[in-house]
Amino acid sequence: MKIISVVGARPNLMKIAPFINAIKMHNQKFKSSVNHYLVHTGQHYDTDMSDIFFKQLNISKADKYLKIGSGSHAQQVGKTMIEFEKVLEIEKPVWVVVVGDVNATLACSITTKKQKIKLCHIEAGLRSNDITMPEEINRIVTDSLSDLLLVPDRFSYNNLIQEGKNKNRVKMVGNIMIDTFEKNKLLAKKFNVTTIIKKNTLKNKTLFNNKYVLLTLHRPSNVDSQNKLFTIIDFLTKRVATQFPIIWPIHPRTKKQLKRFHIWEKILDDKRMIILNPIGYLEMIKLNMQAKMLLTDSGGLQEESCVIGTPCLSLRSNTERPITLEQNGGTVNLIDEELKKLDSVYMNLINKKRKPTAPEKWDGKSAQRCLDEILGF
Ligand code: UD1
Repeated sequence: MKIISVVGARPNLMKIAPFINAIKMHNQKFKSSVNHYLVHTGQHYDTDMSDIFFKQLNISKADKYLKIGSGSHAQQVGKTMIEFEKVLEIEKPVWVVVVGDVNATLACSITTKKQKIKLCHIEAGLRSNDITMPEEINRIVTDSLSDLLLVPDRFSYNNLIQEGKNKNRVKMVGNIMIDTFEKNKLLAKKFNVTTIIKKNTLKNKTLFNNKYVLLTLHRPSNVDSQNKLFTIIDFLTKRVATQFPIIWPIHPRTKKQLKRFHIWEKILDDKRMIILNPIGYLEMIKLNMQAKMLLTDSGGLQEESCVIGTPCLSLRSNTERPITLEQNGGTVNLIDEELKKLDSVYMNLINKKRKPTAPEKWDGKSAQRCLDEILGF
């Protein structure tokens, strides 16, 4: 049986790596062959946004690279559909497996169903209920087309059932990205924070002691509006950085916007802001493990902070991952849309102790469950 799985952007890689591994183990164990074919749409193309993850996560080269690159959403989705259709016509898979909620997920889902091929969505059912978020559109469309919906937690399960999805198609498999964490956590632990900084710093900066806050920021809703970005930068420089240095692996979108708004040089010159190029998976896990606190607008990092136990201030007013919230047993606190609560949430979290917690089935065995569900469908 042939399965095509799809990756496009950085966060897809941590989700597909364990799935590929589960297929390998299945083929070894049963001497049967699930024929796997990996497509990389190329939405993320820089070495530090893509290649390094293939290396660290031991994913062999994609069977097909579509070279889509950057562009408007319509351009990315349109080009991906055109190129992915060609792949489907040649390869004729029984299943296409998509993960997450990026533009590649959406584009390949639509193309798959137009070709009458079975579609499985891993990480189905997430809803922020915020339709201004590009990923929410991708999630809703992908889930409405999928034959098999594999969900990471009970909230996602309930979302899909409430939307009227057939129970036989919705299966709770746990969080596949945590498989990657479980497999790599000991390796990541061996990394050294000072060395990570030294190798990736953009302006020769260093830590004076081991205490720091870790920051990531890339959502269009935070970085595309000058007002909002300036409010966040003000909070970072005037509040957080006066207490702790901030380690900030910078996303290309954010760097571009900081330059556009003419504050890039100023931030780079600030001794307390340790700006890094985008870093690898293992380096990020290590920085998260040792951080006093995580400030982020990434959903994946929110989940990792939960399992690692790092107090996490989400730079968002909603989340598609409520299972990670403190009130549901996790480590994450949200802020308000106008950012008025930034300061008080930060003050409340900064001296919190680590509290690692793993929701049901976030146990490193999700990929096997995903494959079992596909094979048993
Ligand atoms: C995408 C996903 C987002 C995910 C994020 C992780 C969508 C709608 N968004 O957002 O859900 O959290 O990836 O990073 O799919 N760029 C580079 N090098 C690259 C890739 C991009 O410099 O390898 C720059 C380009 O200037 C591009 C910008 O980053 O315009 C944004 O990239 P894009 O693929 O549009 O979306 P992300 O913001 O990365």
